[in-house]
Amino acid sequence: MATIRESIEHWRAAFVGAGVDSPRLTAELLLARVLEVDRGRLLALTQEPLAPAHAAALHELARRRLRREPLAYILGEREFFSRTFSVRPGVLVPRPETETIIELAKRLLPPGQAGWAADVGTGSGCLAVTLALEFPALHVLALDLEPVPVRVAADNARRHGVQARVRCCRGNLLAPVRPGAGLALLVCNPPYIDPAAEADLPPEVSTHEPRTALFSGEHGLQAGRTVLQQARAVLAPGAWLLMEFGADQGPALAKTAALLGYEADLHRDLSGMERVLAARWTSH
Ligand SMILES: C[S@@+](CC[C@H](N)C(=O)[O-])C[C@H]1O[C@@H](n2cnc3c(N)ncnc32)[C@H](O)[C@@H]1O
Repeated sequence: MATIRESIEHWRAAFVGAGVDSPRLTAELLLARVLEVDRGRLLALTQEPLAPAHAAALHELARRRLRREPLAYILGEREFFSRTFSVRPGVLVPRPETETIIELAKRLLPPGQAGWAADVGTGSGCLAVTLALEFPALHVLALDLEPVPVRVAADNARRHGVQARVRCCRGNLLAPVRPGAGLALLVCNPPYIDPAAEADLPPEVSTHEPRTALFSGEHGLQAGRTVLQQARAVLAPGAWLLMEFGADQGPALAKTAALLGYEADLHRDLSGMERVLAARWTSH
């Protein structure tokens, strides 16, 4: 019977061979999941033998990761803004750069902001639920075209105890929102990858994440531009629209926003990349 240390080393080497990111950490997290302990406890147990049933369960999870399934799908969760969100195939895995939208919202809106916000293309609901948690007087509409994200966002709203203030609805972009709704805030991380760039994506993304969450026409800008256009009918005067975009898309998106009557600025994420458009709706 192999020890826990030997088993971690075996799968670390297999992950290195398959080009999987963070191979040791991945082996440790999968084994910690199998043994139902946290990683700290696992590292205190490395001399213990690994029971055959646990070795078989680890083998099964590791094989999924070797097929480049995202670790977050295998574990069923991912951290966002220091909270844990349920994720599963069919929803985009929340990314750390998307936290920039929350940081900006907290800078631009008072903590007691009331009224309604919308999260267009909610996915796991990470933005909608985090807004509800960070702004305890705010109600949030979590919108998505696909049924799985709407269900997962509702699960995450319950998981974090904000289901009374997060309404999850299925619909095409802003179609579910009544014109004149007077939203105080709109956040959106739209699909923004140019379909022509699909070959450059890692297999975790291109093979496993939902295509509706990834790709958009007009070199990736179509969904974002449409949201900017539609949002004019539902934002209150002076309200903010915060939208994530991909590398080099900022100037084109800011230009669209300015032509549509917004005051627009671009903001960087923690890695220094231009990442979020902050557009203030001033015309009415
Ligand atoms: C990039 S993901 C963002 C998910 C989540 N907000 C996040 O930041 O992790 C884009 C989301 O938009 C949704 N989506 C794509 N096209 C849409 C449309 N026309 N109307 C509504 N949602 C759409 C996708 O299903 C996906 O959940």
